[in-house]
Parts: sequence; C-alpha cells; structure tokens
Amino acid sequence: MKRLNVVACFIFSIFLLTSCDEIITATAPSSSQNASVGLDFTPQTVTFGSPNRFILVSVTDANGQPNYSVTHNGRLVIGSSALGMRFQSKAPLDQGFKITDVRRTGERDSTWEQPWGETKTIRDHHYAIEIDFESLSRSNYGYTLEFRVFNDGLGFRYKVPASVCGQSCKIVDELTEFTVPSEATAWWLKGDGYNRLEYIYQTSAVKDQASLVLTPYTLRQSNGIHVSIHEAALVDYASMTLRQQRDGNLKAELRPWSDGIAVKKSGAFSTPWRTIQISPSAAGLANSNLILNLNEPNVLGDVSWVKPSKYIGIWWAMHVGVNTWESGNRHGATTENAIRHIDFAEEHGFDGVLIEGWNVGWDGDWFANGDLFSFTESYPDFDIEKVTSYAAEKGVKIIGHHETSGNVSNYERQMEAAFDLYKRLGVTQVKTGYVADASDIKRIDDKGIPRYEWHDGQFMVRHHLKVVQEAAKRQISVNPHEPVKDTGLRRTYPNWITREGARGMEFNAWGTPPNPPEHIPVMAFTRMLAGPMDFTPGIFNLFPNGEDNENRPQTTLAKQLASFVILYSPLQMAADLIENYEARPQAFEFIKDVPVDWEQSIALGGEVGDFIVMARQERDSRNWYIGAASDEEAREISISMGFLEPETKYEATIYSDGEQADWKEKPYSMAINTAEIDNNQVINTRLAPGGGLAISLKPIDE
Ligand code: NOJ
Ligand code: CA
Repeated sequence: MKRLNVVACFIFSIFLLTSCDEIITATAPSSSQNASVGLDFTPQTVTFGSPNRFILVSVTDANGQPNYSVTHNGRLVIGSSALGMRFQSKAPLDQGFKITDVRRTGERDSTWEQPWGETKTIRDHHYAIEIDFESLSRSNYGYTLEFRVFNDGLGFRYKVPASVCGQSCKIVDELTEFTVPSEATAWWLKGDGYNRLEYIYQTSAVKDQASLVLTPYTLRQSNGIHVSIHEAALVDYASMTLRQQRDGNLKAELRPWSDGIAVKKSGAFSTPWRTIQISPSAAGLANSNLILNLNEPNVLGDVSWVKPSKYIGIWWAMHVGVNTWESGNRHGATTENAIRHIDFAEEHGFDGVLIEGWNVGWDGDWFANGDLFSFTESYPDFDIEKVTSYAAEKGVKIIGHHETSGNVSNYERQMEAAFDLYKRLGVTQVKTGYVADASDIKRIDDKGIPRYEWHDGQFMVRHHLKVVQEAAKRQISVNPHEPVKDTGLRRTYPNWITREGARGMEFNAWGTPPNPPEHIPVMAFTRMLAGPMDFTPGIFNLFPNGEDNENRPQTTLAKQLASFVILYSPLQMAADLIENYEARPQAFEFIKDVPVDWEQSIALGGEVGDFIVMARQERDSRNWYIGAASDEEAREISISMGFLEPETKYEATIYSDGEQADWKEKPYSMAINTAEIDNNQVINTRLAPGGGLAISLKPIDE
C-alpha cells in the first residue's frame, strides 16, 4: 500500500478513487453558490498533486464554470483560471458544465532515451488524472480534461469527443486562462509583431507587459518562484499566445487562419498540452524536461541517420555584406568558394558546410519574390554535382538550404523533387527559411485564390510537420528558420533537429539595435526552455562592420565561446568567416573541441537576464564542458565542481575574460589557462561586462 502523504485524504464525493494519497476530491460544503446562479447541482472540487506533493492542482465546476488553480509548496502559482473553448456553429464548451467523473489514469515513473540531445536518459515521473465535464443543459455533450503533474510542473489538455465536433468543427476561441500575480517580473516577447519571434526580450511587471505575448513566457514571483507558461506537442492546432485581459489574467489566444477561424478539426481531437513549469530557482526551469516528457515517443524508428553536427558555412559573409545571396561578382555560393569551405571544414574537423544562395531565385527583392525560387536549379557558377562529390571525398557533408520567403505554396509544389535531389547528392541536413512579414505566408486555397497566413497558425503548424515527414522519408534532418515555435516535437520526429525561432546572431550584423548583453542570460530561461536553437554563435571579429558601427556582437570573445555550451543545439554553427578563425587559432581550439551531443546537462546557476552557468557532459564520454555568461554587469561567480566524478583529476582548459575585458572597449581580452581540477574544488572567477567563461574538463588517466 502507498504511504499516506502530507495532505490528508478526504473522499466525500461520488468518485471512486483507488489511491487517496494521490488524489483528493472534496465536494464543496453546500450548493448555495450554484443556487445563486440558478444551477441545481452540487459543485465538486478535485485536488491532486505532483509525486513529491509540492505542486497541488485544484479543478472545480463551481457555478458551472470549469476552473483550475495551482499551488507550489502552499504558495499560489496560478490563481482561479477558467477553462473551455467556443466553436463557430456548435454549442460552446464554456459555462454550464459539471464534473461527472474523475479517473486516475496512471502514475508513471520511467526513463526513456533521446537518440541525441542535451540529456541522454530522461526521467518521466508524473501522476495522470482525467476529469470529465458534462453539459448541464444538453445530454451527451462534454469533454475531458487530462492532467499530468510532475515535480517540475504540469501539463493539461482538452480531449473533445466526436459527439461534440462531429464531421467538422471550427474553434473560434480557447478560453484557457493563466492567472498570475500582476506584480511578478516577466520576460516577454510581444505576440503580434511583424518580425515573429525575432524580438529583443522585454522585462517588466506582468501588468505592464504588452497586451499579447508569446510563449515560452517566464515570470518570477516576489517569493522567488519561477514559472514558465508554454505548450507541448503542437500538432494540427494553432499556436497559443497569451492575452492579458485584466492585470495578471492571461488568456489563451490562438493564432487564427486568414478567415478568422482559430482551429479547424474533425471528429474526436486533443489540444496541445498547456504547460506550466514551476521551480524555486531559474536554474530549475532550465533543468526541466517537462516539455519533452509531454510529447509522444519517436515514430520514425531507427534514426541513427540523424547526426548531431558542427558546421561552418557560406553565410555570415552575406549578412555582413562581403558576399551576396544573389548572382553577380560578389556571389557567395560559387563552386570555388564552396571548395574553399570544404577544405577548411576537413582541416579543422567540422562535419558540414552550409551553402546559402546556391539556387535560382535570389535576384531582385528576394524578401518579396518567394514565387521565383527554384529548389532544384543552381546558379551557373555553382556546380552542385561537383561540390557535393568533392565534399563526399573529403568526408564533409553539404548542408542544404531552402529559403521560401514565405511562399509556402511555391515550396510545397517543389518540395518532393527538392528533397529527392538532396537525397541523391548525399545532403542529409537542410536549413529552411520563411523570411516574410508575420502574416505573409502565402498559400493558395482550394479555389486557387492566394491567402496570407501567420507563421504560427494551424496552416503553418501543418506545413512544418509535412516538411519534416517528407524529409524523414529520405533520411534528411530539418532546421527551419523563421519557424513555428518549438514544443518538443523533436522527441516524436528526431529529424526535426533544431530551429531558429528567436533573435539569432544575424541581428548583430544588421539589426539595430543588435542583441543586448543580457540576450543570452534571458534566452537561457525563456526561448531555450522550448528546445534547441540554431543561434549560430562563434563570431571572432567583434567589429564586423568597422569599429564605429553599432551593429556588432555585444559580447567578449570568451562569451562567444561560452555560447556553444549555453545555447544547446545539435547542429551548432561556427558562424564567422574562415579568415577570422585563422586569425585567432587559440580561441578557435575551443570551438573545434566542444561537442554537440551530450550525456547530461546541468544548469548550475543563474538568474533570468543576469547570468547563466551551464555544465554539460559529452555523450558517451567522461569529458565535461562549462559555459557561463553575464549580462552588461561584471560579476564574480563561484562554480562548485561537485558534479564531476569523485576521485578523478581533470585537466581543465579555462577560457576566461581578461582582467580589463569588457564587451565595449576590450572584447578580445581573454586568458587561456590550464589547471588540474577535482570534484572538491570551487572555481571562482569574474565575468566581465557582457562577458563569459568556457571550460573543457578531461579526466587525466593515472
Ligand atoms: C534568415 C535566416 O535566419 C538566415 O540564417 C538566413 O541566412 C536568411 N534568412 C536567408 O535565408
Ligand atoms: Ca531569422
């Protein structure tokens, strides 16, 4: 029998529950509340907890309005928040519903393995509960709420039966709310900007944030509890954004189709999981695997063909204006330049070379001319057969590129032929791109009329998965830029290997203002909670547009190195030009050495927007790597090495900011030291303003 836990067990209700230490249901003492709103039933409140009992969730039907709230260690995390959804021409699932059944559908404590990832073995420990709601006025009309509660948060989703949706139904609104303290500090991106997810994070009290914000959305309560609201397993549904209705009351707002409908469904369906990660510390959020745990296991079978890799590319040169994507005398993607990059990759041990601007369609205003792109025809000065066979001889992979400029219909028409071509040429990874204004994704509807969709509505959610599935058929992995946000689908489709989906390095070349020094310590606890990012770190010429130009990375050199460890991506680009790496061979050693696939990852410390310290153990190895980064402030940090194997000496190579370093004036000041380290030691060091720290630790064989 299970041990009775800290919370007493009350079962007053109609529900038969097998184990009262995990679920507590209690009827409200009287039905007077309901009587006052003209309802004649006895309200129920169902309360259940996480395996360690710190998180408690209560779900109620008082007043006929399904509602939930969440506490952590007795402190309110989510106040009373409504649930439900509305349809275009079906009775709504909103008010006038009562709880009719509660089922404990399982306790799971198991582990599963990622084929590649930031952590090899992931523990999934949760309690699962299903709660049925039935209409008070219509028979056989209702839905089920499914909850999974973990020690690091919870997810819940709606299961809507075919008896409600019928052959087809159109959701016009999801009513899910998240009521949070309005004075809490939030880190947010506005939800309706033309530039999708590519904005500088803002910090403010919840009540002062933009009316609509994107997820992952992270906040810190005054009592120190950190919360991140997001979603998991976004499949055939619209992305959820959060609309502040009243101070602290955030309501799901689904990104609609161009015709205003939020989601189109048929028959029985489940929504994505609405997720709430909860931790007493910022690092706890970064260490949570909740989003992955709420996704379905791998459906692709043997995915040994999905290869984490480190790459260089014909890329930054276009962003800083040295080369062009378009044809002409500065064209970057020439056969000769590709061969130069392949040779450099081979010499320095990189797995791949990305080549952008190889295909016809870039001439003119490519942002606007997505219909001109061919995904099979190269520019005349780029001999794709020669380049790919030369790369194969050298043991280097060419990384393919499909920029669509948002013209998805043009891309979908050519997609199969495009992937067939890459398959034939041995290209196993493709970067896609959807540069366009937020709602300029072009599709052609059933009547042949062009429609313009959002980047993250149901149409694009479907499109991205279609690309991933077509690519998988040919054993190709996909890295979309300007993507839909990550919701953990890499677990189910491991060839969805990484993506952009935030302000990446490119903004430091031409974005005004460029990414601020706090960008990385913010992203570590916001964007990165969703999954890997193709940020493209490793810029060594920190004044790429000249000394006086505002557009530059606002970091020290050491922080460029640290980013390879902090910003997890199984495809990790060394983004700078070949000559800039050749100019700094010692710093380049770290980039050559740092792995891209990990046995385990531990966020050792940090505060959102201030600093982050991340440690990762290389996959199938005993080597460890540390990356730390500060915001615009200098700070002293102490890193306890207790995570290392006991009784083992490691040779540490430490790349730290020089004493005078700061991102503005002395970004190149960096010390490289070696030391013998064991797990009893503490490394005390200083991060410069905009600075960072990178360490490799390798066991010394004795
Ligand atoms: C935007 C992407 O983020 C960038 O990496 C790429 O070079 C350009 N689009 C062109 O496709
Ligand atoms: Ca981009």
